[in-house]
Amino acid sequence: MGEKANKSKKDMTVFRPPEDFAENAIVNDPDIYRKAEDDPEGFWEENANSIHWYRKWDSVLEWEPPHSKWFIGGKLNACYNCLDANIEKRANKTALIWEAESGEIRKYTYRELLEEVCRLSNVLKEAGVKKGDIVTIYLPMIPEVIISMLACARIGAPHSVVFAAFSGDSLATRIGNANSKVLITCDGYSRRGKVVEQKNKVDEGIRSCGLVEKVIVVKHGGNEISMMKERDVWWHEIMKDSDISCEPEVMDSEDMLFLMYTSGTTGKPKGIVHTTGGYMVATHTTTKLVFDLKEEDIYWCTADCGWITGHSYLVYGPLSNGTTLVAYEGAPDYPDKDRYWDIIERHKVTILYTAPTAIRTFMKWGVSWPQMHDISTLRLIGSVGEPINPGAWLWYHENIGMGKCPIVDTWWQTETGMIMISPLPGVTTTKPGSATMPLPGIKAAVLDEKGNEVAPGQDGYLAILKPWPSMVRTVFGNEERFIETYWSKWDNKTYFAGDGAKRDEDGYFWIIGRVDDVIKVSGHRIGSAEFESIMVSHPSVAEAGVVGKEDELRGEVIYCYVTLKSGAQESEELKKELRGYAEKNIGPFARPKQIIFSDDLPKTRSGKIMRRVLKAIANEKDPGDVTTLQDPSVVDMLKQKTKELESS
Ligand code: WT7
Repeated sequence: MGEKANKSKKDMTVFRPPEDFAENAIVNDPDIYRKAEDDPEGFWEENANSIHWYRKWDSVLEWEPPHSKWFIGGKLNACYNCLDANIEKRANKTALIWEAESGEIRKYTYRELLEEVCRLSNVLKEAGVKKGDIVTIYLPMIPEVIISMLACARIGAPHSVVFAAFSGDSLATRIGNANSKVLITCDGYSRRGKVVEQKNKVDEGIRSCGLVEKVIVVKHGGNEISMMKERDVWWHEIMKDSDISCEPEVMDSEDMLFLMYTSGTTGKPKGIVHTTGGYMVATHTTTKLVFDLKEEDIYWCTADCGWITGHSYLVYGPLSNGTTLVAYEGAPDYPDKDRYWDIIERHKVTILYTAPTAIRTFMKWGVSWPQMHDISTLRLIGSVGEPINPGAWLWYHENIGMGKCPIVDTWWQTETGMIMISPLPGVTTTKPGSATMPLPGIKAAVLDEKGNEVAPGQDGYLAILKPWPSMVRTVFGNEERFIETYWSKWDNKTYFAGDGAKRDEDGYFWIIGRVDDVIKVSGHRIGSAEFESIMVSHPSVAEAGVVGKEDELRGEVIYCYVTLKSGAQESEELKKELRGYAEKNIGPFARPKQIIFSDDLPKTRSGKIMRRVLKAIANEKDPGDVTTLQDPSVVDMLKQKTKELESS
């Protein structure tokens, strides 16, 4: 065994797939790239044959830029593919091993999961949910979140999962945008041993939107809540007598499977629309190939179902492959900093998919924690959400992968639905810090402002040049924004990802990070504009400029520059209050690291806040040409203030 570490031309260590891994890998022939490139539609069509269709498609792709339709005329059901399709071979196989923060463990076989899902499907139908109605799910990482998603898919009701830590207001905005009348939530949940109130946030948040007619409440936190007569019902009460079978709805390939809200460059989050056929083929295929999924694997993706990773690589991809999943509700340091390694040891996890911010945290905590456990069952480890720095990659490789596990650094987005750039673990030679190459069937490039490919080593914008099955179909209710955000940088055939990147001499992709006004805090995506609009809703704040500052642990942290309304006084209390305000109105993950009071902000002559300049200031970099600013002297003043923060 033993990995092959070689020095490449420029003295960088590269890692070949270990021989025994490659030998047994699902893909070990690099020819897959050539075949897919010669005939991408053929490649996807072949893979489409490994999922279940009620009716096969008439044609694979219709591409009317920037709109694509995949597997046109095909009929299928995503839930059927995740559950029913496994019943013949795997009815009694464990589908889900779930662990609560408290240590409680629940396991579901494929049959049991199917029964629970059918029960809820019937409940939803009873509540009046029809094909096409959007159901909002506001749950933490408990089995019920997975059951809810699949029940929606079963009856053809698109789901919109809102990350549980979002505020009640953020929930209400999303409910309003989706026009969602049914909500599934819980009383509360535990985080580091303390109960977080969830239902209270719901009651406060949706009071004003008046849309929601039915709230299904999972009893989980055990905290005291109030139930509104007629509107609110307990999950366990309505599930009790519900039938354990429910016919899946026959869905068109292009019917919406779900909405996932994500932050962008303007004030409001956008509802990314994913449809059924292309998404299922894409996630089914990439889960199998990127994670080299085998029947005996125990697969743990640490993502939350509140984000796209939890949709594609915790639910739809793995279950449609008949995998045994592990899901964990709580914090990685509860009760102690070895919780992840303890979980891996106890459940004999073979594949781990987690985020760079977690890896860097583990690095900080030290190797003694993983060393307390036998984690030798691991055979493949993955990373997603932000660039992984080579130092963290190497630490992960050595201390978690024990030098023997290939690492898959997977680049993708809410909008792409599937992993786009990643190693194939049995084929690709990896370089620490690079997501390597586009997957078979995917064509990506790094372009300059004009749309020309940049030379190796040069920075540019990451672009996708060909349609792919799980591509975002539109922004819900806002087609203009869809076109403007993704298809207007160059031409309407070239997808603008919003990331900066470069390629090296071997053609490897190195993702640098967002080039638009999206901040990535611990992998969570937060829009500057969205944040600013919340800050200026505080009675003391006149203007706000919010930018990301590079951070060793979290990737980025939030720096919030504010000017105050006349009469408001700068004070430590106000800083604290504003931090709390952001936390309350967005969520705890959005708590700004620094609030910086200022008399003015860098603005153009027309009064637009120049975030580019603020970002440079926060990162103590050269802001470039500032002569076009309304008042260039603001820059030095803010530089000084930022510097003082660093030294204090
Ligand atoms: C943004 C998308 C993909 C699911 C989770 C995040 C960044 C994601 C990588 C990676 C470098 C990465 C990009 C991207 N990103 N994966 N392997 N290397 N950057 O989904 O919230 O839609 O965020 O995450 O900046 O644009 P998301």
